[in-house]
This record gives sequence, C-alpha cells and structure tokens, in this order.
Amino acid sequence: MSLDTDLWWAVARSEEVTSKKPLSVDIGDQPVVLWRDHHGIARALEDRCPHRRAPLSLGCIRDNGLIQCGYHGWSYDGETGRLKEIPNMKDQQKFPPLYKANAFGVSEQAGFVRVCLNPKAEAPLSAEPKYSYIGTVNVSCSHQEYLDALYDDPALILAIRGVRFSPYIMSELHEEGGMLVMERSCQWHPLHWPSHFVAEFPLTLLTRTHPLTGETHLTLRDDAFNDLLHAVLSPVPAARGVTAVRWRAELGVRRPGLRGAMLRGVNPLTVLSSIDGSKLRTTKPTVSLHGEDLRNALLDAPQDTHDQTVAA
Ligand code: FES
Repeated sequence: MSLDTDLWWAVARSEEVTSKKPLSVDIGDQPVVLWRDHHGIARALEDRCPHRRAPLSLGCIRDNGLIQCGYHGWSYDGETGRLKEIPNMKDQQKFPPLYKANAFGVSEQAGFVRVCLNPKAEAPLSAEPKYSYIGTVNVSCSHQEYLDALYDDPALILAIRGVRFSPYIMSELHEEGGMLVMERSCQWHPLHWPSHFVAEFPLTLLTRTHPLTGETHLTLRDDAFNDLLHAVLSPVPAARGVTAVRWRAELGVRRPGLRGAMLRGVNPLTVLSSIDGSKLRTTKPTVSLHGEDLRNALLDAPQDTHDQTVAA
C-alpha cells in the first residue's frame, strides 16, 4: 500500500525501544529498524543494510550508539544514516558515499515512539498522560478493515472488561478538528443470566480517530460523564496485510461495587488478534461507509498532517 510520507506513525511503545537490541517494525511495505543510541535517543533507519541489503535489525547496537550490521560488520549513525565504520579499514581510506542508510524522522512522546518516512517532517505535539496498561497485538486484517471494524462494531476487535458495546450510536460519526469522532451506547455486561434483555445503556464509548493513521483516543464514560477508562490505540499497517496495534490504557474515576471491580481487573482492555468471520458477516457496514465519505472529504480539504495527535 502507498502511504503519505508526511504521516507520523506510532510504531512502538517507548519501553520496546532499547539500546540492547534493535527492534524491527513495518510501516506498510517499508521495513524500519529502531533502537536507542548512547544518549538514549530513539533512532530509525530503513531496515536494510546499504551494503548487501541484510536487515540491520539482525545486527547489534554498539557502545557508541551506532547500529552494526550483523553480516559484514559495517556501522551506521542513526541520525543521518551515514556509514561510520568498516571493520579493518585503514585510516586513510574513505567510505563510498553510496553506502548511506535511509534515515527517518523520529519523535517520542506520551509513551509512543513515532516515525515519519520523511526525515524533515515536523514532529507532532501531544500531552504526556500516564498509562498503567499496555499491549501490542498483530491483528490479522488490513489497516482499513481494522478501522471499519472499529466503526461498525468495536466488539469485532476490542473487549473492555465488564462492558458490552451496543449497536446504538449516540452521535453519528462526524468530523471535529480533523478527527473522526463518534459516540456509542454501551451496557455493563449483565452479571446474571438472561444476559440479552438489559434495556439500560448507562455507558458511552467516545472515539476520536485520525482519518489517515487511524490512531484512536478512546474514552469510556458513565451516565454522570465520569471518565472510567481512557486508551490510545495506534494501528500501523505492516507487511502481508497485518495491522500492528500498540496501545496504552488508564482507568479514570474509581467506580465502586461489582461493576467497578470488573473494570479494575488485571487488564481492562483487550485488542483481539483476529476478527471473528461469522460476526463480521452479519455486521452491517453502515458507519464505516459514512467514515469513508468523511475521510475522502477530509483528504480533499487542505490538511495539516503534523497536527495528528490529540491530547488525552
Ligand atoms: S550486508 Fe551489511 S555490512 Fe555487508
């Protein structure tokens, strides 16, 4: 798939990027290697050695912060992608300028490492909230299918402990400040059988989604508009039609009683690794079709692609 090269993709959670071991990620068909240099700064290069195309992620990170290819040992600088050292090369010899890795823009904020394929793009700004729960899931569907599922029925790809999503939309999918926003009615998952005949919808799920990257800020609210849960989900298209979703979540106000206890469980949020085909077959693509129209309208309008991150 071809991607807008000015977009910033949250390709890793901060703790996944270390100076111990390179991390391999994809942005669409573009392989990227991430690591931290000796100053602790996250770096991103194309994950192909300019010498003989070996993945740099199979190499190692040296004490001086350079990444070293595991094949013939050439070392590259993360900021520029320049070749810095070749083993056993004499001092007076010069490096051929041809051997330079593609360096990408990197920005680290709010617990995510974001990469932009355009190294000159301006980094986005975002708030620095605290998150207690984290996860990374490779979902076996395309980026577009993942977003369509999120709009049409979040239960296809998400689960929140003790909460059931309803088909009822409180506010239609609409555009607000360049984000796609919608609100869906939810119920507490009934504690006792029969589970299907609960007529109350005291909860709402508010989602604010970037129309291109699909980065979503999700808030679960109770009937008094208290925020019970906030989460950021960052889906990034990876190779072979897989979508890598990295997420962070934090509980809001502490809700007493059994319901609240369910939400306060070990991990309140689950991102499913695949979509249930039977459920998908019977899900009407009503919201996602509207989302496609909105997305196209937003794409036709002049965009500020850098302002893609919303505060929590
Ligand atoms: S392929 Fe990387 S140094 Fe030769």
